Amino acid sequence: MENNFHVNKLFKLLSIQNKSDLSSVSKKIGVRTEVLKYFNDNRVFPYGDVLQKLLEFLDISEVEFKISLGIIDHNILDWLGSNCKLVANSLPKEKRVVEVFHPKFRSKFGTLFQGDCIQLMRSLPGESVDLIFADPPFNLSKVYESGINDNISEDEYLRWTEEWIVEAVRLLKPGGSIFVYNIPRWSTEIATILNRYLEFRHWISLNFRGYTPPIKYKLNVTHYGLLYYIKGNKPSAFNPQRIPMKTCRHCGGEIHDYGGKKKNVSELGQVISDVWEDIHPVRHKSRKTRDSNELPIKLLLRIIALASNEGDLVFDPFGGSGTTYKAAEMLGRKWIGVEIGDVQGIIERISSNEGDYDRLEEFKLGSDILFTKEQRELRKANGFWLPEDFK
Ligand SMILES: C[S@@+](CC[C@H](N)C(=O)[O-])C[C@H]1O[C@@H](n2cnc3c(N)ncnc32)[C@H](O)[C@@H]1O
Repeated sequence: MENNFHVNKLFKLLSIQNKSDLSSVSKKIGVRTEVLKYFNDNRVFPYGDVLQKLLEFLDISEVEFKISLGIIDHNILDWLGSNCKLVANSLPKEKRVVEVFHPKFRSKFGTLFQGDCIQLMRSLPGESVDLIFADPPFNLSKVYESGINDNISEDEYLRWTEEWIVEAVRLLKPGGSIFVYNIPRWSTEIATILNRYLEFRHWISLNFRGYTPPIKYKLNVTHYGLLYYIKGNKPSAFNPQRIPMKTCRHCGGEIHDYGGKKKNVSELGQVISDVWEDIHPVRHKSRKTRDSNELPIKLLLRIIALASNEGDLVFDPFGGSGTTYKAAEMLGRKWIGVEIGDVQGIIERISSNEGDYDRLEEFKLGSDILFTKEQRELRKANGFWLPEDFK
């Protein structure tokens, strides 16, 4: 397959497999190749002139065309609902073979497997996990050590995404939580899948990047989406995390104006909101010992502390460098891990007593406190108030 040539539903319908098919179909329909590629790649329903030309070329009605492209509106859903028996009986029966997995490694709290996460999930009992965190590949043509293909068609990526999410949902206990990390473009699609099975809690905006080069005709993207859902309407674990007040790096003064309300600010710090700006990518050479996909462990410490209790079971289907497993291990949560590629790095990380424990210490020192030691000193030096001034 040519590198940037993706066959989504539109191209399938038009029997376009490659650039040469595209150019001949484009001539026959009288629609430019870029226009056809736009509707195929973005999976957007064609409109205007193009729609008419496509309908004529394919000789189908608009409703047929919509269904072929996977656009199921409420009229179609109503019909499906009243004919569900017919539809269910007409679908091919799926034969499921459940593989047997043997652990590659066991630690005090966790068990690590190597292989495909969907197969592993199918082998695990339903409603057995308290918290799931998932950081899947984003299909952005990244090169992964495991050699997985990160440049598949949008349709394939979303089909695969739905498959692993459905399995993850099955594993979740009632009251359990799931967090899915991705770029906003995919988070919108992932939310649509999750909305069918679970209760929406938050779209957390993880503001990681400071400067990004301008993008033509677009806003700069500086956040990742972290979707947070639960099974049922009451989380079995919810421990609001408190962090220090945001202050100026240079003078220690507060960034937001608290006016007369500062007397009411808790000495335990501020409960986190749905915008997280205090977590920074793993960048420093001294800290960065693993490959470029490693998430900052502070993120996982926060999620696990927020949405699970000691002894709970945490699962992450996309092991990578093992950040989730290490965070769970350090916080005394049981965990199950799986990675399709080499797992030696994860085993070494879990077995090591260095590095991550310093981050755990920093995490604890930065929790349940209004100002860190450094912030206090800076504020004192510059004459800003401290909580004890109001006592
Ligand atoms: C974005 S990385 C996860 C990074 C991880 N959160 C960390 O902090 O190190 C995604 C990982 O999922 C793995 N992966 C991709 N497809 C998989 C599959 N079907 N089953 C298991 N692992 C998979 C990739 O090899 C890669 O290591």
